[in-house]
Amino acid sequence: MRVLTGIKPTGTVHLGNYVGAIKPALATLGEPGTDGFLFIADYHALTTLPAADDFKRQSHGVAATWLAAGLNPQTCTFYRQSDVPEIFELTWIIACHCPKSMMNRAHAYKAIVQANEEAGTEDLDAGVNMGLYSYPVLMAADILAFDADVVPVGKDQAQHVEYARDLAIRMNHRFIEEDAAPAEVLVVPQARIDADIASIPGLDGRKMSKSYNNVIPLYGTAKELEKAVKRIVTDSTMPGEPKDPDSSHVYQIYAAFAGKEDRARFAQELRDGMGWGDAKKTLYALLEEELAPGRDRYQSLMANPAEIDDILAAGADKARKHARKVLNRVRAALGLKTH
Ligand code: TRP
Repeated sequence: MRVLTGIKPTGTVHLGNYVGAIKPALATLGEPGTDGFLFIADYHALTTLPAADDFKRQSHGVAATWLAAGLNPQTCTFYRQSDVPEIFELTWIIACHCPKSMMNRAHAYKAIVQANEEAGTEDLDAGVNMGLYSYPVLMAADILAFDADVVPVGKDQAQHVEYARDLAIRMNHRFIEEDAAPAEVLVVPQARIDADIASIPGLDGRKMSKSYNNVIPLYGTAKELEKAVKRIVTDSTMPGEPKDPDSSHVYQIYAAFAGKEDRARFAQELRDGMGWGDAKKTLYALLEEELAPGRDRYQSLMANPAEIDDILAAGADKARKHARKVLNRVRAALGLKTH
């Protein structure tokens, strides 16, 4: 079974991403019988026109993060989207099969139109470039270029995978109607939406998220980690007074990383009156132990981006072989020369 997913390189990766996305994805890719494809969706990030320096650093940063967190580029295909030109050739072909009305209905686009409407902006499409508008077409190409069976994504991406499915079915239908292909040309993918994605509270107790500015960076320095942990909001219970672990953000973050026994012990210590200062020291020690090896690997990769590029280039070679096969099937069905 081919399992494929893309990661948009944006901002600093934080503990919430690690618990909610990276760890579960690494577990999925490691399942027996899984042929994993994982890629850095840098051309999707281009829709916001990031400054060149940031763009480069973020692509490297995301790749280094996944490698440091344990992604094995030998056992799955790990590449950068922009290194696989076949994806963009397929994007155009899909665009020509995609009704414009389908893009009008895309959630992300509609949200911008609605915001413009509410702000009284005259041009309802203000701030929308064609890259953003046709984002779902590119995402369909990402998926269909590799015959992906299953696409694990968050809820917010469900519509995009549904579009990829719909477009694959339309194209297959057209080719079969025209007798242009003996069988289905494109594999119809399926989304896998994890309903109960683990999430952890951020420093202020709301869900950890870049948009709330309450994150703990995943591979910052030890000092940064310690400082962030100290800033986690607690109630004003004094040392010696019993504390309720379940309503404590310190405990919730601890619980996302600790084994069962450690969790039970930490919870008991809080009920027995451990002070918040000590509780934070315990949390910091646990995080440091879990994250230090990855941080070292992350920093050595970021100090030597050529190593990241080499790994991604090897992945792109593997990926292109698959994409070329798919593209040849599509080109033949369209009446174009194959390569
Ligand atoms: N749009 C996805 C996101 O913002 C990233 C992505 C791009 C993706 N292409 C993909 C995910 C293909 C799965 C499959 O998170």
